[in-house]
Amino acid sequence: MTHKLLLLAGDGIGPEAMAEVKKLIAVMNEMGHAFETEDALVGGCAYDAHGAAIAEVDVAKAMAADAVLFGAVGGPKWDGVPYDVRPEAGLLRLRKDMDLFANLRPAICYPALASSSSLKQEVIEGLDILILRELTGGVYFGEPKTITDLGNGQKRAVDTQVYDTYEIERISGVAFELARTRKNHVTSMEKRNVMKSGVLWNEVVTATHKAKYSDVKLDHMLADAGGMQLVRWPKQFDVIVCDNLFGDMLSDVAAMLTGSLGMLPSASLGAPDEKTGKRKALYEPVHGSAPDIAGKGIANPIAMIASFAMCLRYSFDMVAEADRLEAAIASVLADGLRTKDILSDGMREVGTAEMGDAIIAKF
Ligand code: NAI
Ligand code: MG
Repeated sequence: MTHKLLLLAGDGIGPEAMAEVKKLIAVMNEMGHAFETEDALVGGCAYDAHGAAIAEVDVAKAMAADAVLFGAVGGPKWDGVPYDVRPEAGLLRLRKDMDLFANLRPAICYPALASSSSLKQEVIEGLDILILRELTGGVYFGEPKTITDLGNGQKRAVDTQVYDTYEIERISGVAFELARTRKNHVTSMEKRNVMKSGVLWNEVVTATHKAKYSDVKLDHMLADAGGMQLVRWPKQFDVIVCDNLFGDMLSDVAAMLTGSLGMLPSASLGAPDEKTGKRKALYEPVHGSAPDIAGKGIANPIAMIASFAMCLRYSFDMVAEADRLEAAIASVLADGLRTKDILSDGMREVGTAEMGDAIIAKF
Protein backbone atom coordinates (compact mmCIF):
# COMPACT_ATOMS: atom_id res chain seq x y z
CA MET A 1 0.00 0.00 0.00
CA THR A 2 1.43 3.42 -0.92
CA HIS A 3 1.50 6.24 1.61
CA LYS A 4 0.79 9.62 0.06
CA LEU A 5 2.70 12.50 1.65
CA LEU A 6 2.35 16.17 0.75
CA LEU A 7 5.56 18.04 1.57
CA LEU A 8 5.12 21.73 2.32
CA ALA A 9 8.65 22.87 3.13
CA GLY A 10 7.82 26.59 3.27
CA ASP A 11 10.33 29.37 3.91
CA GLY A 12 13.68 29.99 5.61
CA ILE A 13 15.10 26.82 7.17
CA GLY A 14 11.92 24.89 6.30
CA PRO A 15 13.35 23.53 3.02
CA GLU A 16 16.75 22.81 4.62
CA ALA A 17 15.17 20.68 7.35
CA MET A 18 12.76 19.04 4.89
CA ALA A 19 15.69 18.02 2.65
CA GLU A 20 16.90 15.69 5.43
CA VAL A 21 13.48 14.05 5.71
CA LYS A 22 13.42 13.59 1.93
CA LYS A 23 16.75 11.75 2.09
CA LEU A 24 15.32 9.52 4.81
CA ILE A 25 12.17 8.79 2.80
CA ALA A 26 14.32 7.81 -0.20
CA VAL A 27 16.27 5.40 1.99
CA MET A 28 13.05 3.93 3.40
CA ASN A 29 11.70 3.42 -0.09
CA GLU A 30 14.90 1.55 -0.99
CA MET A 31 14.18 -0.65 2.04
CA GLY A 32 10.82 -1.55 0.50
CA HIS A 33 8.46 1.05 1.91
CA ALA A 34 6.17 2.83 -0.52
CA PHE A 35 6.04 6.52 0.23
CA GLU A 36 4.83 8.71 -2.59
CA THR A 37 5.75 12.35 -2.07
CA GLU A 38 4.69 15.53 -3.73
CA ASP A 39 6.09 19.02 -3.05
CA ALA A 40 4.00 22.17 -2.91
CA LEU A 41 4.47 25.77 -1.85
CA VAL A 42 3.21 27.31 1.37
CA GLY A 43 3.86 30.60 3.16
CA GLY A 44 5.91 33.44 1.74
CA CYS A 45 7.21 31.43 -1.21
CA ALA A 46 3.61 30.61 -2.18
CA TYR A 47 2.67 34.28 -1.88
CA ASP A 48 5.55 35.23 -4.20
CA ALA A 49 4.49 32.59 -6.73
CA HIS A 50 0.74 33.15 -6.79
CA GLY A 51 -0.31 35.84 -4.32
CA ALA A 52 -1.78 33.49 -1.71
CA ALA A 53 -0.20 31.76 1.29
CA ILE A 54 -1.38 28.45 -0.16
CA ALA A 55 -3.00 27.76 -3.53
CA GLU A 56 -6.46 26.17 -3.62
CA VAL A 57 -5.14 23.14 -5.53
CA ASP A 58 -2.59 22.56 -2.80
CA VAL A 59 -5.24 22.76 -0.06
CA ALA A 60 -7.07 20.05 -2.02
CA LYS A 61 -3.87 17.98 -2.19
CA ALA A 62 -3.43 18.32 1.57
CA MET A 63 -7.00 17.13 2.10
CA ALA A 64 -6.38 14.11 -0.13
CA ALA A 65 -2.95 13.14 1.25
CA ASP A 66 -2.47 10.47 3.91
CA ALA A 67 -0.37 13.00 5.81
CA VAL A 68 1.13 16.47 5.37
CA LEU A 69 4.69 17.31 6.39
CA PHE A 70 5.07 21.03 7.01
CA GLY A 71 8.36 22.91 7.42
CA ALA A 72 8.03 26.53 8.54
CA VAL A 73 6.69 29.75 7.06
CA GLY A 74 7.35 33.47 7.26
CA GLY A 75 10.21 35.90 7.48
CA PRO A 76 10.98 39.63 7.34
CA LYS A 77 10.64 39.64 3.55
CA TRP A 78 6.85 39.29 3.93
CA ASP A 79 6.31 41.59 6.90
CA GLY A 80 4.38 44.09 4.80
CA VAL A 81 2.03 41.74 2.92
CA PRO A 82 -1.73 42.07 3.51
CA TYR A 83 -3.01 40.26 6.63
CA ASP A 84 -5.19 37.76 4.77
CA VAL A 85 -2.35 36.45 2.63
CA ARG A 86 0.46 36.62 5.21
CA PRO A 87 2.53 33.42 5.36
CA GLU A 88 0.88 32.13 8.59
CA ALA A 89 -2.48 32.21 6.80
CA GLY A 90 -1.39 29.07 4.90
CA LEU A 91 -1.00 27.06 8.09
CA LEU A 92 -4.19 28.44 9.64
CA ARG A 93 -6.11 27.58 6.47
CA LEU A 94 -4.86 23.98 6.58
CA ARG A 95 -5.70 23.62 10.27
CA LYS A 96 -9.22 24.86 9.61
CA ASP A 97 -9.97 22.93 6.41
CA MET A 98 -8.46 19.69 7.73
CA ASP A 99 -10.21 20.29 11.08
CA LEU A 100 -7.01 19.53 12.99
CA PHE A 101 -8.41 19.78 16.50
CA ALA A 102 -5.80 17.72 18.35
CA ASN A 103 -2.30 19.14 18.72
CA LEU A 104 0.31 16.74 20.12
CA ARG A 105 3.45 18.25 21.61
CA PRO A 106 5.84 15.72 23.13
CA ALA A 107 8.51 16.81 25.60
CA ILE A 108 11.24 14.21 25.57
CA CYS A 109 14.60 14.50 27.26
CA TYR A 110 17.36 12.80 25.31
CA PRO A 111 19.85 11.41 27.86
CA ALA A 112 22.79 13.10 26.11
CA LEU A 113 21.17 16.52 26.58
CA ALA A 114 19.93 16.08 30.17
CA SER A 115 22.78 18.08 31.64
CA SER A 116 22.06 21.14 29.47
CA SER A 117 18.51 21.66 30.82
CA SER A 118 17.87 24.58 33.16
CA LEU A 119 16.37 22.03 35.56
CA LYS A 120 18.34 19.62 37.73
CA GLN A 121 19.44 16.52 35.88
CA GLU A 122 17.47 14.14 38.14
CA VAL A 123 14.28 16.12 37.48
CA ILE A 124 14.62 16.00 33.70
CA GLU A 125 16.47 12.77 32.89
CA GLY A 126 14.25 10.22 31.15
CA LEU A 127 11.38 12.67 30.72
CA ASP A 128 8.79 11.57 28.13
CA ILE A 129 5.48 13.38 28.34
CA LEU A 130 2.90 14.44 25.79
CA ILE A 131 0.85 17.63 25.94
CA LEU A 132 -2.38 17.39 24.02
CA ARG A 133 -3.82 20.79 23.19
CA GLU A 134 -7.31 21.40 21.79
CA LEU A 135 -6.57 23.46 18.68
CA THR A 136 -9.76 24.61 16.98
CA GLY A 137 -11.96 25.96 19.80
CA GLY A 138 -11.80 28.03 22.94
CA VAL A 139 -10.91 31.65 23.51
CA TYR A 140 -8.90 32.12 20.29
CA PHE A 141 -12.06 31.67 18.20
CA GLY A 142 -15.04 32.30 20.55
CA GLU A 143 -17.51 35.12 19.77
CA PRO A 144 -17.97 37.88 20.78
CA LYS A 145 -14.41 38.99 20.25
CA THR A 146 -14.35 42.79 20.24
CA ILE A 147 -12.75 46.02 21.33
CA THR A 148 -15.38 48.69 22.04
CA ASP A 149 -14.83 52.39 22.68
CA LEU A 150 -16.80 53.21 25.83
CA GLY A 151 -16.72 56.93 25.01
CA ASN A 152 -15.28 58.03 28.35
CA GLY A 153 -11.65 57.61 27.40
CA GLN A 154 -11.91 53.90 28.16
CA LYS A 155 -12.08 50.94 25.84
CA ARG A 156 -13.35 47.44 26.59
CA ALA A 157 -11.80 44.28 25.11
CA VAL A 158 -13.78 41.03 25.10
CA ASP A 159 -12.61 37.52 24.26
CA THR A 160 -14.94 34.60 24.77
CA GLN A 161 -14.06 31.06 25.79
CA VAL A 162 -16.57 28.69 24.19
CA TYR A 163 -16.54 24.88 24.33
CA ASP A 164 -19.29 22.47 23.34
CA THR A 165 -19.61 18.94 24.69
CA TYR A 166 -18.56 17.28 21.41
CA GLU A 167 -15.33 19.26 21.26
CA ILE A 168 -14.30 18.15 24.74
CA GLU A 169 -15.42 14.57 24.06
CA ARG A 170 -13.31 14.22 20.94
CA ILE A 171 -10.12 15.71 22.39
CA SER A 172 -10.41 13.63 25.57
CA GLY A 173 -11.01 10.53 23.43
CA VAL A 174 -7.69 11.20 21.67
CA ALA A 175 -6.00 11.70 25.07
CA PHE A 176 -7.20 8.34 26.42
CA GLU A 177 -6.30 6.52 23.20
CA LEU A 178 -2.80 7.99 23.21
CA ALA A 179 -2.38 7.12 26.89
CA ARG A 180 -3.19 3.48 26.11
CA THR A 181 -0.14 3.37 23.80
CA ARG A 182 2.03 4.98 26.49
CA LYS A 183 1.92 4.82 30.31
CA ASN A 184 -1.89 4.71 30.46
CA HIS A 185 -2.24 7.91 32.45
CA VAL A 186 -4.12 11.11 31.55
CA THR A 187 -4.05 14.37 33.52
CA SER A 188 -6.76 16.83 32.49
CA MET A 189 -6.07 20.48 33.29
CA GLU A 190 -8.64 23.32 33.46
CA LYS A 191 -9.76 26.05 35.87
CA ARG A 192 -13.15 24.77 37.05
CA ASN A 193 -12.81 26.92 40.17
CA VAL A 194 -13.25 30.14 38.16
CA MET A 195 -14.42 29.19 34.63
CA LYS A 196 -17.70 27.65 33.48
CA SER A 197 -15.86 26.13 30.51
CA GLY A 198 -13.61 24.47 33.10
CA VAL A 199 -16.65 22.98 34.86
CA LEU A 200 -17.93 21.53 31.58
CA TRP A 201 -14.43 20.39 30.57
CA ASN A 202 -14.04 18.47 33.83
CA GLU A 203 -17.54 16.99 33.56
CA VAL A 204 -17.16 15.79 29.96
CA VAL A 205 -13.65 14.35 30.44
CA THR A 206 -14.93 12.45 33.50
CA ALA A 207 -17.98 11.13 31.60
CA THR A 208 -15.90 10.10 28.55
CA HIS A 209 -13.51 8.27 30.85
CA LYS A 210 -16.33 6.45 32.62
CA ALA A 211 -18.10 5.50 29.39
CA LYS A 212 -15.18 4.18 27.31
CA TYR A 213 -11.78 4.46 28.94
CA SER A 214 -12.03 3.43 32.58
CA ASP A 215 -8.90 1.26 32.16
CA VAL A 216 -6.83 4.47 31.86
CA LYS A 217 -5.77 6.31 35.04
CA LEU A 218 -7.33 9.79 35.06
CA ASP A 219 -6.33 12.76 37.24
CA HIS A 220 -7.67 16.31 37.22
CA MET A 221 -5.51 19.30 38.05
CA LEU A 222 -6.12 23.03 38.05
CA ALA A 223 -4.11 24.44 35.16
CA ASP A 224 -2.09 26.93 37.24
CA ALA A 225 -1.09 24.20 39.68
CA GLY A 226 -0.32 22.06 36.62
CA GLY A 227 2.13 24.68 35.38
CA MET A 228 3.87 24.55 38.75
CA GLN A 229 3.98 20.75 38.79
CA LEU A 230 5.40 20.67 35.26
CA VAL A 231 8.44 22.57 36.45
CA ARG A 232 8.66 20.90 39.88
CA TRP A 233 8.41 17.23 38.88
CA PRO A 234 7.41 16.72 35.22
CA LYS A 235 7.92 12.96 35.33
CA GLN A 236 4.65 12.56 37.28
CA PHE A 237 2.81 13.11 33.97
CA ASP A 238 2.21 10.96 30.91
CA VAL A 239 -0.48 12.62 28.74
CA ILE A 240 -1.74 16.08 29.70
CA VAL A 241 -4.94 17.25 27.99
CA CYS A 242 -6.13 20.85 28.03
CA ASP A 243 -7.92 23.57 26.10
CA ASN A 244 -6.42 25.77 23.41
CA LEU A 245 -5.15 28.60 25.65
CA PHE A 246 -3.78 26.53 28.54
CA GLY A 247 -2.34 24.09 26.01
CA ASP A 248 -0.52 26.87 24.19
CA MET A 249 1.19 27.98 27.40
CA LEU A 250 1.76 24.62 29.05
CA SER A 251 3.19 23.05 25.89
CA ASP A 252 5.73 25.87 25.60
CA VAL A 253 6.69 25.43 29.26
CA ALA A 254 7.04 21.67 28.86
CA ALA A 255 8.99 22.08 25.63
CA MET A 256 11.59 24.33 27.17
CA LEU A 257 12.22 21.89 30.01
CA THR A 258 14.21 19.91 27.51
CA GLY A 259 16.20 22.52 25.60
CA SER A 260 16.35 23.86 22.07
CA LEU A 261 13.54 24.82 19.75
CA GLY A 262 15.42 22.89 17.09
CA MET A 263 14.55 19.59 18.83
CA LEU A 264 10.78 19.85 19.17
CA PRO A 265 8.32 18.04 16.89
CA SER A 266 4.53 18.28 16.80
CA ALA A 267 1.52 16.62 15.23
CA SER A 268 -1.95 17.95 14.53
CA LEU A 269 -4.70 15.39 14.01
CA GLY A 270 -8.26 15.60 12.74
CA ALA A 271 -11.30 13.41 13.23
CA PRO A 272 -11.26 9.84 11.87
CA ASP A 273 -12.80 9.49 8.40
CA GLU A 274 -16.24 7.87 8.63
CA LYS A 275 -15.42 5.18 6.06
CA THR A 276 -11.71 4.45 6.49
CA GLY A 277 -11.17 5.45 10.12
CA LYS A 278 -8.02 7.33 9.06
CA ARG A 279 -7.32 10.73 10.59
CA LYS A 280 -6.21 13.75 8.57
CA ALA A 281 -2.84 14.81 9.94
CA LEU A 282 -0.16 17.46 9.67
CA TYR A 283 3.31 17.12 11.18
CA GLU A 284 5.60 20.08 11.77
CA PRO A 285 8.49 21.23 13.91
CA VAL A 286 7.59 23.70 16.66
CA HIS A 287 10.19 26.21 15.46
CA GLY A 288 9.65 28.86 12.81
CA SER A 289 11.60 29.73 9.66
CA ALA A 290 14.64 31.06 11.61
CA PRO A 291 15.57 33.78 9.09
CA ASP A 292 18.69 34.59 11.15
CA ILE A 293 20.30 31.27 10.18
CA ALA A 294 18.48 30.39 6.93
CA GLY A 295 20.68 29.45 4.00
CA LYS A 296 23.74 28.76 6.16
CA GLY A 297 23.33 24.99 6.41
CA ILE A 298 23.47 25.06 10.21
CA ALA A 299 19.81 24.54 11.18
CA ASN A 300 19.06 21.62 13.45
CA PRO A 301 17.00 19.11 11.40
CA ILE A 302 16.02 17.00 14.44
CA ALA A 303 12.65 18.71 15.06
CA MET A 304 11.66 18.02 11.45
CA ILE A 305 12.96 14.45 11.49
CA ALA A 306 11.24 13.77 14.84
CA SER A 307 8.03 15.18 13.32
CA PHE A 308 8.35 12.55 10.59
CA ALA A 309 8.80 9.91 13.32
CA MET A 310 5.46 11.07 14.75
CA CYS A 311 3.99 10.74 11.25
CA LEU A 312 5.17 7.12 11.05
CA ARG A 313 3.70 6.43 14.49
CA TYR A 314 0.33 8.16 14.25
CA SER A 315 -0.58 8.15 10.54
CA PHE A 316 0.88 4.84 9.40
CA ASP A 317 1.01 2.75 12.57
CA MET A 318 4.70 2.11 11.82
CA VAL A 319 5.59 1.93 15.49
CA ALA A 320 8.80 -0.08 15.05
CA GLU A 321 10.14 2.36 12.45
CA ALA A 322 9.19 5.36 14.61
CA ASP A 323 10.93 3.82 17.61
CA ARG A 324 14.00 3.12 15.49
CA LEU A 325 14.14 6.65 14.14
CA GLU A 326 13.85 8.14 17.63
CA ALA A 327 16.55 5.76 18.84
CA ALA A 328 18.77 6.86 15.92
CA ILE A 329 18.39 10.49 17.01
CA ALA A 330 19.26 9.60 20.61
CA SER A 331 22.25 7.58 19.46
CA VAL A 332 23.70 10.34 17.28
CA LEU A 333 23.37 12.76 20.20
CA ALA A 334 25.04 10.22 22.47
CA ASP A 335 27.92 10.11 19.97
CA GLY A 336 28.44 13.82 20.63
CA LEU A 337 27.21 15.28 17.32
CA ARG A 338 25.63 18.69 17.79
CA THR A 339 24.26 21.43 15.58
CA LYS A 340 25.18 24.94 16.72
CA ASP A 341 21.94 25.51 18.70
CA ILE A 342 22.66 22.58 21.05
CA LEU A 343 26.45 22.75 21.03
CA SER A 344 28.28 22.39 24.34
CA ASP A 345 31.89 21.91 25.43
CA GLY A 346 33.65 18.86 24.06
CA MET A 347 30.97 18.04 21.48
CA ARG A 348 31.45 17.91 17.71
CA GLU A 349 29.75 20.63 15.73
CA VAL A 350 28.00 19.48 12.55
CA GLY A 351 25.78 21.14 9.95
CA THR A 352 22.24 20.31 8.91
CA ALA A 353 23.14 17.73 6.26
CA GLU A 354 25.77 15.98 8.35
CA MET A 355 23.32 15.65 11.26
CA GLY A 356 20.67 14.27 8.89
CA ASP A 357 23.10 11.81 7.31
CA ALA A 358 24.28 10.57 10.72
CA ILE A 359 20.71 9.90 11.85
CA ILE A 360 19.85 8.14 8.59
CA ALA A 361 22.99 6.00 8.87
CA LYS A 362 21.87 4.78 12.31
CA PHE A 363 18.26 4.16 11.23
P1 NAI B 1 12.03 30.80 15.09
O1 NAI B 1 11.59 29.52 15.70
O2 NAI B 1 12.08 30.84 13.62
O3 NAI B 1 13.48 31.16 15.65
C1 NAI B 1 13.75 31.49 17.02
C2 NAI B 1 15.24 31.28 17.31
O4 NAI B 1 15.52 29.88 17.37
C3 NAI B 1 16.14 31.84 16.22
O5 NAI B 1 17.31 32.37 16.80
C4 NAI B 1 16.48 30.64 15.38
O6 NAI B 1 17.71 30.72 14.72
C5 NAI B 1 16.47 29.50 16.41
N1 NAI B 1 16.02 28.24 15.78
C6 NAI B 1 14.75 27.92 15.44
N2 NAI B 1 14.72 26.71 14.85
C7 NAI B 1 15.99 26.28 14.81
C8 NAI B 1 16.60 25.09 14.31
N3 NAI B 1 15.89 24.12 13.73
N4 NAI B 1 17.93 24.97 14.43
C9 NAI B 1 18.66 25.93 15.01
N5 NAI B 1 18.14 27.07 15.51
C10 NAI B 1 16.82 27.24 15.41
O7 NAI B 1 11.07 31.95 15.65
P2 NAI B 1 11.04 33.51 15.31
O8 NAI B 1 12.41 34.03 15.10
O9 NAI B 1 10.17 34.10 16.33
O10 NAI B 1 10.25 33.62 13.93
C11 NAI B 1 10.88 33.66 12.65
C12 NAI B 1 9.80 33.56 11.57
O11 NAI B 1 9.17 32.28 11.65
C13 NAI B 1 8.70 34.60 11.72
O12 NAI B 1 8.33 35.03 10.43
C14 NAI B 1 7.58 33.82 12.38
O13 NAI B 1 6.32 34.36 12.08
C15 NAI B 1 7.75 32.46 11.76
N6 NAI B 1 7.22 31.34 12.56
C16 NAI B 1 6.62 30.33 11.87
C17 NAI B 1 6.15 29.23 12.51
C18 NAI B 1 5.58 28.13 11.70
O14 NAI B 1 5.81 28.06 10.51
N7 NAI B 1 4.81 27.23 12.29
C19 NAI B 1 6.24 29.09 13.98
C20 NAI B 1 6.94 30.17 14.62
C21 NAI B 1 7.39 31.27 13.92
MG1 MG C 1 2.80 29.07 21.60
